[in-house]
Amino acid sequence: MHFTFAQYQESAQFLKHRLGNFQPKVAMVLGSGLGYLGDLVEHAIVVPYGEIPHFKHSTAPGHKGQLVFGTLAGQPVAVMQGRMHHYEGYSYEEVAYAVRVLRLLGCQTLFVTNAAGGVNYSFHAGDLMLITDQIKIFLESPLRGENLPEFGPRFPDSSYLYTPKLQALAKQQARALDIDLKTGVYMYFPGPQYETPAEIRMARILGADAVGMSTAPEVITAGHCGMNVLGITLVSNMAAGVLPQKLTEQEVLDAAEAAKEKFSGLLLACLAHLDEA
Ligand code: HPA
Repeated sequence: MHFTFAQYQESAQFLKHRLGNFQPKVAMVLGSGLGYLGDLVEHAIVVPYGEIPHFKHSTAPGHKGQLVFGTLAGQPVAVMQGRMHHYEGYSYEEVAYAVRVLRLLGCQTLFVTNAAGGVNYSFHAGDLMLITDQIKIFLESPLRGENLPEFGPRFPDSSYLYTPKLQALAKQQARALDIDLKTGVYMYFPGPQYETPAEIRMARILGADAVGMSTAPEVITAGHCGMNVLGITLVSNMAAGVLPQKLTEQEVLDAAEAAKEKFSGLLLACLAHLDEA
C-alpha cells in the first residue's frame, strides 16, 4: 500500500490543529533507550502516535511511541520518542511516514539518533559517532512506488544526505564539550536478529563503521524532501564477532542509559547553536 499526498496532509492538519500557533523547525528521532531527551522539552504538547491519522505504533523496547512538541535548547522542536522499524512489520514508506508529516509541519532540519553496533575496531561501546554517510543495500527504498513530486524528485541525489554544515557543527560542539566524537558510515541491516560475525566482516569490507536497524530509511526520505540532516549514533556494543560475548537487547539499553549525559549534552549544544551553522 502506498500513501497519497492527501494522507500526509491529513496527518499534518490533525497535528496543526493540536498545535495551535506552535510551529516546529527541528524534527528529532530518538532511538533505542534515547527517548529521555523528549522529557526535557518545555511547554510540551504530547501526541501519542495512535491518535494521529495513518501513523503506526512503535513496538520496539525503549520506544515510547509519541510526538513531543515544544522548546528544547531554545529551538521549536518535534521530538519522536520512538520510531517505527521495518522489522516490526512495517513497509519502509510506513517507517518514514512521520518524516514527511513533520516536513509538512514546517521542519527543515532532522536530527536522527540510534544505537548501533561498532564495526570499526577503533571504536568502543559507549562511543558517539557522527554519521557521515550511510549504506542501505538491503530491501527496497522508502521512495519505491509512485513519486510524490510535492515532496521531491523521482531520482533524488544522495551525495550529501548528512548535511556537511551540520556535521561541522557537531564536531565543533563535541570539541567544546570535550567529547571524543568518532565519525563514520552507518550501514543498515533489516534485523530483528543481530548480524552474524560473517555479515559484520562483510560490512567492514564494504566500508561500514557501525551497523543498525534504523535511520537509513528516514534519512533517504528526509533527503528527498530537502531536509538538512544530522545523524548521531551511540555505539551501544561492538558488533557480532568483534568480542567473544553474545549480543543482548539489555546491553543496548544499558549503554544508552550510561551515555545519557554525553549524548544529550551534544544534541542540546547542536540545537542551541543550530542557527550559527
Ligand atoms: N546490530 C544491529 N543493530 C544494533 C546493534 C547491532 O550490533 N546494536 C544496537 N543496534
